[in-house]
Amino acid sequence: MTPLRGIVLAGGKGTRLGELTRVTNKHLLPVGPYPMVYFPLKKLAGVGLGDILLVSGTEHMGDFVELLGSGKDHGCQITYKVQDEAGGIAQALGLARLFSHGARSLVILGDNIFEDSLHDLVAEAEKQPNDAFVLLKEVPDPQRYGVAEIQEGRIVGIEEKPKVPKSKMAVAGIYLYPADVYEVIRTLKPSHRGELEITDVNKFYLSQGRLRSRPLKGYWTDAGTPESLGHANDLVRNSMPRFV
Ligand code: G1P
Repeated sequence: MTPLRGIVLAGGKGTRLGELTRVTNKHLLPVGPYPMVYFPLKKLAGVGLGDILLVSGTEHMGDFVELLGSGKDHGCQITYKVQDEAGGIAQALGLARLFSHGARSLVILGDNIFEDSLHDLVAEAEKQPNDAFVLLKEVPDPQRYGVAEIQEGRIVGIEEKPKVPKSKMAVAGIYLYPADVYEVIRTLKPSHRGELEITDVNKFYLSQGRLRSRPLKGYWTDAGTPESLGHANDLVRNSMPRFV
């Protein structure tokens, strides 16, 4: 079995949240009774990942350390990695190369709030250690996300925030990558918005016939806009998790 490491990406300026992120990081904002970052951490710890890397910018790393400490209250060991400048999700993930050390990586964007356990994903990926996995969810507003084009049940294309989406299936911010993902990231070129895009990583695996997808069965949302943060709070309120 190839080892698996957990990574939470919790950087970015959170500008879409306006005044809410003027003095703090998006992932420290409340979702139900907990700071947002608890949710991805619990999902990773819940599948037995004892070693988790949290990537964030310089501005609020101290707050994350104060909040989460070594990780012992969350049943894991947390390592912190500073992203000096926001250069995109794939750039942030690239910072986990030494941490992952030849292992596969289970990556969660820290503002993704979802119901499903990651057990089935981890079990399936163990049988296919050279493949990458993305999770899909039907959404009413796909143009806000990476969008999968599906033919006969298989992904045949992915576009980042397309104006005219080819489906309603959003690619969630939950990814399981084989050990070579860090080599793939090294080959990426910045997109038109100057960022290394996670969608380009997924497209690389697609081009190699190494990308698999699974549906998310329970609720899923991001929480990066005032509306979606409100929605995340509503979802969590209706099925309250207990973390402490
Ligand atoms: C990012 C990804 C996008 C994905 C989304 C999920 O978008 O680029 O492909 O669908 O996360 O939350 P962002 O939230 O950075 O706009």
